[in-house]
Formats: sequence, structure tokens, C-alpha cells
Amino acid sequence: MKLKTIQFYLILLILFNSFYCKIQKNSKSNLFDKILLKEEDLIKSGIEFGSSLLLKDEKIILASDGKADDYFGASLSISGNISITGSPNAEVGTTDSQGKAYIYENNGTYWNEKQILVASDGEADDIFALDTSISGNYSIICSPYAKVGANSRQGKVYFFENNGTYWNEKQILITSDGESGDYFGTSLLISGNYSLISSSYAKVGNNTRQGKVYFFENNGTYWNEKQILIASDGKADDYFGLGLSISGNISLIGSPYATVGNNTKQGKVYFFENNGTYWNEKQILITILFMQQLGNNTNQGKAYIFENNGTYWNEKQILIASDGESDDYFSSSLSISGNISFIGASYANVGNNSHQGKVYIYEKDENYWNEKQILIASDGEAENRFGYQIVVFQNYLLSSSPYTIIENSSNQGKVYSFEIIFISNNIDETTKTNSQKYLIIGLIIGIFILISLIIFIIFWKRRKRKTRSNLI
Ligand SMILES: *[C@@H]1O[C@H](CO)[C@@H](O)[C@H](O)[C@H]1NC(C)=O
Ligand SMILES: *[C@@H]1O[C@H](CO)[C@@H](O)[C@H](O)[C@H]1NC(C)=O
Ligand SMILES: *[C@@H]1O[C@H](CO)[C@@H](O)[C@H](O)[C@H]1NC(C)=O
Ligand SMILES: *[C@@H]1O[C@H](CO)[C@@H](O)[C@H](O)[C@H]1NC(C)=O
Ligand SMILES: *[C@@H]1O[C@H](CO)[C@@H](O)[C@H](O)[C@H]1NC(C)=O
Ligand SMILES: *[C@@H]1O[C@H](CO)[C@@H](O)[C@H](O)[C@H]1NC(C)=O
Ligand SMILES: *[C@@H]1O[C@H](CO)[C@@H](O)[C@H](O)[C@H]1NC(C)=O
Ligand SMILES: *[C@@H]1O[C@H](CO)[C@@H](O)[C@H](O)[C@H]1NC(C)=O
Ligand SMILES: *[C@@H]1O[C@H](CO)[C@@H](O)[C@H](O)[C@H]1NC(C)=O
Ligand SMILES: *[C@@H]1O[C@H](CO)[C@@H](O)[C@H](O)[C@H]1NC(C)=O
Ligand SMILES: *[C@@H]1O[C@H](CO)[C@@H](O)[C@H](O)[C@H]1NC(C)=O
Ligand SMILES: *[C@@H]1O[C@H](CO)[C@@H](O)[C@H](O)[C@H]1NC(C)=O
Repeated sequence: MKLKTIQFYLILLILFNSFYCKIQKNSKSNLFDKILLKEEDLIKSGIEFGSSLLLKDEKIILASDGKADDYFGASLSISGNISITGSPNAEVGTTDSQGKAYIYENNGTYWNEKQILVASDGEADDIFALDTSISGNYSIICSPYAKVGANSRQGKVYFFENNGTYWNEKQILITSDGESGDYFGTSLLISGNYSLISSSYAKVGNNTRQGKVYFFENNGTYWNEKQILIASDGKADDYFGLGLSISGNISLIGSPYATVGNNTKQGKVYFFENNGTYWNEKQILITILFMQQLGNNTNQGKAYIFENNGTYWNEKQILIASDGESDDYFSSSLSISGNISFIGASYANVGNNSHQGKVYIYEKDENYWNEKQILIASDGEAENRFGYQIVVFQNYLLSSSPYTIIENSSNQGKVYSFEIIFISNNIDETTKTNSQKYLIIGLIIGIFILISLIIFIIFWKRRKRKTRSNLI
């Protein structure tokens, strides 16, 4: 038996014991029966578990036609049994960096690739699918680098609709006041007939890169631009909209570079509520709990929990990884479902593997969120960046590793799927109410997206130079 395997079983045993103690204390007898039934599965499938949920059946998802430098998994979205994975740097035919999106359908045991989406009018360097969002039969996918008329990098968003068997491109969304360098679509979300799409680099008045968020509404056949959301106290270089969240008629929009007091780039989050026709700004969220120093660790990352009491979001807790280190970028990705939150630290080292990546699982226990489990890919390697994107829907957790090497193809990318088995509480019942009640904010989420964009830019420039020199 390899040392790693032994260590793994030890961890499993320790976790199991702590689980056992907890359950005994709680004396919910039927819960323990459930875990006993699952124990065999656990060891067979090599998964880890915390006190109240199991992650089992790790499945690895690859693009059928993946190639080096596709960055498959740079974006992820999920709704029901459909998930969409973006490969924003993928070649389409012979067109460089045009981008593709892959549709997967889960049949209960496996995610099967169903269709590959490309933009009907895609061009080189559009970076289609840098972000994707799905809600039922609707999906929106961005091309933030796409040219509109003579405006380079104004950005476009493509609307696809599922007719039951096939996703058809139905509309190309363009902003009414778009300009060059807006990067429309850097973040986007769709929820039923509502969609919020950001142009985080857009100028507002004379403020460059203050950022705007566009509200589009579907009237049954067509998405119409209805409102442009702007931060009431926005300033140049705030990058409003670089982080977005929507749930029903409420939305939270980040301005990760906003100055607070004398602190540049402290960041703010704006709470908007839709009254049926209009999104009104209701609150500006700023972290107020004392700013704990993380020793001497720079870029370790923190996540903040806010709770809504019906009218107001109050800061409740700061989450810090138990084993955090410098440059982990903890909270550069995150997802929340009911009382469980998943927080990525895709730069975290695992053993001697630098930047393999980890996902931390927190669970709310009465009043406090506790770290319960650290999730690591079973076949993880250095520089994979597991946890780059995390999405959760009901019982599925997807986490991507877009920098994974597949058979000598560097940065081709992988996605991992886990089935979440909730033991101690019924998440399905509470998800709806709680998803509007809690919020987690990654302090460095925006910086991270920006870094990704920069990496992509550097990458094409180098690649173009390479292509040119190959031709010579
Ligand atoms: C996916 O879910 C839809 C709607 O619930 C269902 O009709 C379909 O059969 C499911 N697909 C598979 C492969 O199970
Ligand atoms: C689901 O898909 C996998 C892979 O294509 C296949 O092996 C399996 O039999 C399918 N399961 C069901 C229930 O259809
Ligand atoms: C998606 O469209 C199909 C075919 O029109 C329909 O059967 C299905 O109910 C729709 N699903 C959702 C979630 O609206
Ligand atoms: C769905 O769209 C595809 C491709 O456009 C088409 O071939 C198919 O007939 C459509 N199915 C339905 C049920 O409309
Ligand atoms: C923008 O700057 C110009 C020149 O400095 C000034 O005339 C104009 O009033 C400014 N516009 C706004 C909206 O601040
Ligand atoms: C979206 O709008 C159309 C037309 O107004 C309506 O029929 C449909 O029920 C709406 N869908 C949702 C999810 O609200
Ligand atoms: C939806 O919007 C489009 C474009 O504005 C318009 O042409 C169409 O009549 C509208 N449809 C409905 C049902 O309102
Ligand atoms: C900001 O800095 C100035 C000058 O250093 C200082 O006078 C002021 O009190 C500071 N304000 C806050 C809110 O810390
Ligand atoms: C938003 O939706 C909730 C629940 O549907 C409702 O109680 C609330 O009044 C709505 N808010 C506004 C401003 O319409
Ligand atoms: C919604 O808010 C807008 C802007 O504040 C206001 O003009 C409108 O009257 C409100 N509508 C409702 C139904 O309250
Ligand atoms: C931070 O670094 C300083 C100087 O290297 C060292 O003296 C101090 O103990 C460190 N603090 C922590 C909490 O590691
Ligand atoms: C919600 O929180 C705010 C700010 O802390 C407070 O003023 C308000 O009274 C609270 N409302 C309720 C219903 O508890």
C-alpha cells in the first residue's frame, strides 16, 4: 500500500471517528445508520467526508475534442441535470482562441457530452465562454473580447435556448451604449426571465473602468435591455460588476477595487432589489469586522459571511482556511447551497505539488460556519488549479482544473463532478429560503478574474508571435 493511500485512510478514519462522536452527541440514531450503509461505498470510491455531508462518486469530465491551451473549465454553470463548461481559448476550425462551450447532461450516473456550442459569428480572440450561465432551458454565454462594429473588445453575449434536444442560438445581446474596451459579458447571470450582464471596464461619465451592469428581460421571445445599473458612489477603477449574484428579485454586485475610507481596493458590494420594474440600490456592503492579519501571509484570502435579516445584510463571520498559506487565493471561487458553502483556493499547494488547488467545505452549525472538509482531486497534480470554478446545484458539485495537462497537452483542463449526500439536514427544503438569506463574498474574486484576463492576453500575444515565427 502506498504511503499516500495509508495516510488517506487514516484521515478517513479520523473523520469517521469525529463524525461518530458528533452523531452520538446529537443522538439522531437514524443518521448513523445512513453512514454505516455508505461506509463501503466511501472506501471503494475513495472519497472524503465531513460530519454531515458526503461527497461521493468523483467523476472526471473531459472535452471530447480537447486540445492544449483550451482551458476547459475556465467557466462552469449548472441547472438541473445540465451543465455547461467553457473552453474560452479553444480553436474553432483553424480560428485561434475563438472559444467553445460544452453541454453535458447527467443521466443519474454520468455527465454525457451532448453538444458543443460556438458563436455563429465568432472570430479569432473572441474568448467565447469565458463566462456562462444557465437557467432551465435558457443559457447566456459571453464573448467579452468580441468586436462590435468598429469597436474592438466591446463584447457580445449569446443567448441559446434548449428545445428539448438541442441548444439553438437565438439572439446576440449587445449594449445600447457600448464602447471599445467595455468587455461586456465579463460576468453574467441568468435567472428565469432576468439576466444581469456586466461591462466592468465601461466608462461612466469621465470615470474610466468604473463599470456598469446591464439588466435584460425576456418577454417570451426576445431579451430587451431594460436598465443600466451603476453604483451610486462609483468612481474610476472600481470595476463594478466583476462579481455578480442574483436570486429572485435580489442581486448583489461587487466592486472589488473600490476604495473604502483610505483603503484602496478594499472593495464594496452593492445590494439591489427589483420592485417588479426597476432595480433599486438598497445597501452598500463593506466589511466592518476588524481586519484580522493573517500572520505575514500575503494573498492568502478570506471569505466573509453576511446574513440578511429581512431588510439588511449584516456581516457575521470571516472564514479563513485552517491550513492557509501565502498565495493560496482562498475564495477566488465560491458557491453556497443552503447551510453549506464551498470555497476554492485554486493556488493552494497540496503536499509538494504547488498550485494543485483545494476546495474548502463549510457548514453552518446553529450560528457559526465551521470548516468541515478539504476536498482535493483524486488524481491532482502540480499546477492543476483545482477549484478554479465551483458550482453547486442540489446534489451536484462541479469543480474545474483548467490548467491540467492531459496526455502532454498543457492547460487542456478537466472538470470533476461529485455527488453530495446530505446527512444531517435536508438541504433541498432549505435551499430556497437560505440562498436568499446568506451571502459569501470572496475578497479577491475580482482580482482573480482580472488576472485570468491578463493571462489570456499574454497567452495570445505569445501564441501569435509563435505562429508568425512558425510561418517564417
Ligand atoms: C434531465 O432532466 C429532464 C427534466 O427533469 C428529464 O426530462 C430528462 O430525462 C433528464 N435527462 C436524463 C438523461 O436523465
Ligand atoms: C449513463 O451514461 C453512462 C455513460 O454514457 C452509461 O454508461 C450509463 O449506462 C448511463 N446510465 C443510465 C442510467 O442511462
Ligand atoms: C425545456 O423545453 C422542453 C421542450 O420544450 C420542455 O419539455 C421542458 O419542460 C423545458 N424545461 C424547462 C426547465 O423549462
Ligand atoms: C430542436 O432544434 C434542432 C436544431 O435546430 C432541430 O433539428 C429539432 O427539430 C428541434 N426539435 C424540436 C422538438 O423542435
Ligand atoms: C468630463 O470632463 C470634461 C473635460 O474635463 C468636462 O468638461 C465634463 O464636464 C466632464 N463630464 C462629466 C460628466 O463629469
Ligand atoms: C417569462 O416571460 C414569459 C412572457 O412574459 C412568461 O410566459 C414566462 O412565464 C416567464 N417565465 C418566468 C420563469 O417567469
Ligand atoms: C418582445 O420584444 C420584442 C423586441 O422589443 C418585440 O418585437 C416583441 O413584440 C415583444 N414581444 C412581446 C410578447 O411583448
Ligand atoms: C485618511 O488619511 C488621512 C491622512 O493620512 C487621515 O487624516 C484620516 O484620518 C484618514 N481617514 C480615515 C478614515 O482613516
Ligand atoms: C421580492 O420578492 C419577495 C418574495 O417573492 C417579496 O416578498 C418582496 O416583496 C419582493 N420585493 C420587492 C421590492 O418587490
Ligand atoms: C420601482 O422603483 C422605481 C424607481 O425607484 C419607481 O419609479 C417605481 O415607481 C417603483 N415601482 C413600484 C411598483 O414600486
Ligand atoms: C512576521 O515576520 C516577522 C519578520 O520576519 C517575524 O518576526 C514575525 O514573527 C512574523 N509573524 C508571524 C505571525 O509569523
Ligand atoms: C436588521 O439589521 C439592521 C442593521 O443591523 C437593523 O437596524 C434592523 O433593525 C434589523 N431588522 C430586523 C428585522 O431585525
